[in-house]
Amino acid sequence: MKFHIKTYGCQMNERDSEAVSMLMLRHGFTKASSEASADIVIVNTCSVRGKAEDKALGKLGLLAAGKRDSPGRIVGAIGCVVQQLKGDIRRKVPGLDFAVGTHRIGTLPEIIALVMDGKGPIIDTGEDRVHESNLTLHPEGGISAFVNILYGCNRRCTYCIVPAVRGHEWSRPATNVIDEIRQLVSAGVREVTLLGQSVMSYGRANQVWPESHRSPCGFNEPLPRLLEAVDAVDGIKRLRFTSGHPSGCTEELARAMSELPSVCEHLHLPLQSGSDRILEMMRRGYISNDYRKAIECLRKRVPDIALTTDIIVGFPSETEEDFDMTVRFMDEIGFDNAFVFKYSPRPDTAAAGWHDNVPAKTKMHRNKVLLIEQDKRGLAINGRLIGQEMEVLVTGTSLRNSSRWTG
Ligand code: SAH
Ligand code: SF4
Ligand code: F3S
Repeated sequence: MKFHIKTYGCQMNERDSEAVSMLMLRHGFTKASSEASADIVIVNTCSVRGKAEDKALGKLGLLAAGKRDSPGRIVGAIGCVVQQLKGDIRRKVPGLDFAVGTHRIGTLPEIIALVMDGKGPIIDTGEDRVHESNLTLHPEGGISAFVNILYGCNRRCTYCIVPAVRGHEWSRPATNVIDEIRQLVSAGVREVTLLGQSVMSYGRANQVWPESHRSPCGFNEPLPRLLEAVDAVDGIKRLRFTSGHPSGCTEELARAMSELPSVCEHLHLPLQSGSDRILEMMRRGYISNDYRKAIECLRKRVPDIALTTDIIVGFPSETEEDFDMTVRFMDEIGFDNAFVFKYSPRPDTAAAGWHDNVPAKTKMHRNKVLLIEQDKRGLAINGRLIGQEMEVLVTGTSLRNSSRWTG
C-alpha cells in the first residue's frame, strides 16, 4: 500500500508528518510518487486560524468525495483540526476512514491496518501521548532537520487555539534530544532546529537534566544547557531554536548565543502587538518595555542578531492608535522579517467571546501597511550585506537553474 501525506501548518506539523512517514515505512507501507497514485492519503491539519481550518477541511472533503471513483482508497486526517473537532470531524467530512489527534499519531500504522481490515472508520483523539520513541526517526540524506524538544504549551494567550489542540507542556529529557541529534549529525545533517511552541519554557514543567549534570560554561537554565550540549556534538554546524518568548531572553541565553559557535545569531521572537493595552488583552505576559529589554539583553552580547517576528492585526478593540504603536515599535526594533496575520476568532479561546469588531477591510489594510513597511526595512537591512562575504549552508541546486547552488 502506497501512502501520501499532505501537510498544512507550522514546523511542528512538518516534523510530525516526517516522523509519521518514517513510521509508516517501518511498518511496510511505501511512499507514493504523487497524491493521485496513493492508496492512502493522510492530511495533516492546522487550525490556528479559521482559513487554515477551512483549507484542510476543504481538501479532505474533495478527497473523501473522490473515493467514489477510486474504491478501496483510504482517506484520513491527523493533527490539530482533528484534536479540535474530535468526533465532529466525521459530520464535517463524511466518508473519512480515520481521524487521529495530535497526541496519538504514533499509532497511525495500527489504525490504518484496522481500517484495511474493514474495522473503520476510526476516530482517536485521546490525550494520552503515545510513547515518543515511535516518533524520533528522520528521513535519510537531509542536511537540515527539525528536532522536537518541547510538546504542548502552558501559556494561555487569549487568541490562541494551540494549547487546546497540543495539550500541556512536556519537555523531552535532554539525553534523548542529544542522542537523536548525534544520530542525525552522523548521518550527514549539519543544521538542527530545536522545536517547541514556546521553546524557552524548555524544562520548566518537568525535569530534563539529571541532578548530577554539570554545565561546562556554568549555565543553570535548561535551554542554555541544552544548547551547550548540542553544540558539543561533533560535526554540527548550525543550531537554531524556535519560537522564542521575551521572558526567556535571559543573560544566560544571550551568553549561550554569543559563545557557542554553532548557535545561529537569529531569533524568532513573536511580538504580536506594539500596544501595551492589546498585549495585556492578549495575555502575552509582557508589555512593550519588557520586549525592548529582552532585545537589549540579547544585543549586548550578540550585536548583529537577526530578529524575526509574528504580528496579529485587528485583535478585538484594536484602534488606529494601537496599530500606530505597532508600526512604530516594529521600526524601533528593526526586524529583519515579520509574518503578519489577521486576527481570526478561534473556538476554545478566551478571545472568542469578545466582539471581533475590527472590520475585515481594516484588518486587510493594516496587514498591507505592515508588510510594505517591513519590505522597506528588510531591503535596507539586506542592502547593507551587499559586497560582504558570508558563510552559506548549501542545501541543494536552485529549482529554476540547476547549474546554480541554493543555500
Ligand atoms: N507558539 C508560537 C506561535 C504559534 S501560532 C509562539 O507563541 O510563538 C503562530 C502565529 O500565529 C502566532 O505567533 C500568532 O501571530 C498567529 N496566530 C495565532 N493565533 C491566531 C489567531 N487566532 N488569529 C490570527 N493569528 C493568530
Ligand atoms: Fe499560542 Fe501563546 Fe502558546 Fe504561542 S505561547 S502557542 S501563541 S498560547
Ligand atoms: Fe497549526 Fe497546530 Fe501548528 S494549529 S500552527 S499546526 S500547532
